[in-house]
Amino acid sequence: MSRYSPKEYWTNLAERYGHEDGKALAPVLHPGAPDWFNLRIHELQERAWRHALSLCTLPKGASVLDVGCGTGRWVRRYAQDGYSPVGLDGSLSMLKRASELGTLAPLLAARLQSLPFRDGAFDCAQAITVIQHIPAPEQQQALEELVRVIRPGGYLILLELIRGQAAHVVSHAPADWIDRVRLCGPELISWFGQEFLLLDQILSGAVSFSRGMLVGADADGLSLPGAPQTRTKREQLTRNLYGKVRRITVGLSTWVEPMAGRLCPAEWATHGVFVFRKPLAQP
Ligand SMILES: C[S@@+](CC[C@H](N)C(=O)[O-])C[C@H]1O[C@@H](n2cnc3c(N)ncnc32)[C@H](O)[C@@H]1O
Repeated sequence: MSRYSPKEYWTNLAERYGHEDGKALAPVLHPGAPDWFNLRIHELQERAWRHALSLCTLPKGASVLDVGCGTGRWVRRYAQDGYSPVGLDGSLSMLKRASELGTLAPLLAARLQSLPFRDGAFDCAQAITVIQHIPAPEQQQALEELVRVIRPGGYLILLELIRGQAAHVVSHAPADWIDRVRLCGPELISWFGQEFLLLDQILSGAVSFSRGMLVGADADGLSLPGAPQTRTKREQLTRNLYGKVRRITVGLSTWVEPMAGRLCPAEWATHGVFVFRKPLAQP
């Protein structure tokens, strides 16, 4: 496998998939997956993000740093809700797309591991599916940087993978994410599971048993990296049918998601949402 170069990797996604759907969700969610799928995942994440924000006592106008802001969906929402966001991303192409989508807040190109801000500059900082994409040996440094730029008493919101691994993705068990952040100083306020997609997970599990039918599908089973013209008629038919069935299971799963969040162990979700507070006086 070729070496992971984050800047190159994300720039390539922004340029290749940035105009795939009107909201530029594909490069930051599931590149190559159908628009309806990314929209559903986005809706689930937005619900979780709003809940996380409701756990923070942040006055309107509070300064918020969104690291790895991608095409700017959270930066725009923070601004719409009356906060003062700043977006930062390692890929200029992501930021360019964010600007094109009408992001008016400041956007900066920089690496999370070395943030160009003074200590305590923000009331809140967040990373939504970003740390999981940083190579394991650099993740702790990234968390330390993130915490450094939050003021004492300020908040940190993380939405990151808690199970599963893929190319360029390093997940951690919830307790591990919590320990890693605590090592930097902040205390956990609350965490919850995000993205249970119960029925869909059952279907995907069943399909991965009979994988042979889905030649070329990637980890989410919906992205189609292979060129369509190289597929046989049977493969194409199977894919179309699978896509249709999955649209139903994803739809039903998102509908029962709030109930799943209440009834299932949080560890059954694929992602965890963690809300931390930096102590007023650093130990
Ligand atoms: C999965 S996308 C998520 C984007 C955004 N947080 C969202 O939820 O829409 C990950 C983003 O993190 C950015 N990124 C990855 N590693 C980074 C790093 N070390 N420093 C800054 N940005 C980084 C990528 O360029 C990409 O835009």
